[in-house]
Amino acid sequence: MPRSFLFVLVLVSFATGSFPQMNAELPKAKFVSIEGHRGARGYLPENTIPSFTLALEQGADTLELDVVVTKDKKVLVSHEPWFSHLISTAPNGERIEKEKEREHNIYKMTYAETTKYDVGSIGNVGFPDQKPMKVSKPLMTDLFKAVEKFVNDKKLAPVRYNIEIKSAPQGDGTFHPAPDEFARLVLADIKKFGLEKRVIIQSFDLRPLKELKKMASTQQLALLVGPTEDPVLKLERLTFVPDTLSPHFSLVNEKLVAFCREKGMKLVTWTVNESADLERMSKFDLDGIITDYPDRAVQVFRKR
Ligand code: G3P
Ligand code: CA
Repeated sequence: MPRSFLFVLVLVSFATGSFPQMNAELPKAKFVSIEGHRGARGYLPENTIPSFTLALEQGADTLELDVVVTKDKKVLVSHEPWFSHLISTAPNGERIEKEKEREHNIYKMTYAETTKYDVGSIGNVGFPDQKPMKVSKPLMTDLFKAVEKFVNDKKLAPVRYNIEIKSAPQGDGTFHPAPDEFARLVLADIKKFGLEKRVIIQSFDLRPLKELKKMASTQQLALLVGPTEDPVLKLERLTFVPDTLSPHFSLVNEKLVAFCREKGMKLVTWTVNESADLERMSKFDLDGIITDYPDRAVQVFRKR
């Protein structure tokens, strides 16, 4: 093609706006869900209502929470089925000794008894920016009530809940009910609030996931995979493909992303707190990121 003709073609393309690159729309960046881990644990006591509402204020669209069961069969928001020495003060005002924390067994206490424990005043050494406050562990239903009201008052988009059932075979009957009863109690509370479609239930323990699959086949489920576990082998042991695979972020690589795509699973990773790690994770085709610092994730994932 003569050079002069090419020059005219380029000029005409600019003048008519038909130059392909000028006209093409940039592809929209994929929406990656930002999940507030135990609320916004970096700033307020974990798994408490103020921490969850702060996570929403910072831009989280999903709340990650852990649940256990009390003696009177209420679902309580707590990472351990006992009062951790790291964050709790006993009803007598004293710190809990590490060696004795399991004696403060939530499964052997009524909900009313759990409210006598303070889980915010001593802060958390792992989270130096966490603001101490006197606060107790909430019932999951009270959390739903408070969050739904907050979202409504602030005219925010409907929030999603990522609820982790904290159980292990050795804890059955001692620290929590058997998996079928545990699953039933959690499902009942979700149903009470009509939240079935906005909830995903996750667990490291395959047993409650298998029970849930039988009880509520449309319930969204996520398989948690720890840093020392093999995601492929763990998925095989689950015997069905869940909606989401949720590995520790050290396991995320292109091969795992491709595996999730091939199986038709979403990929939601945890718990990514450092900005450099958030940046690194943003290069992968993720569906969600779980963090104790929702504001940091917003900086990385909403800047595009
Ligand atoms: O959501 C996954 C993550 O929360 C699992 O770890 O120990 O913080 O419950 P953990
Ligand atoms: Ca969790």
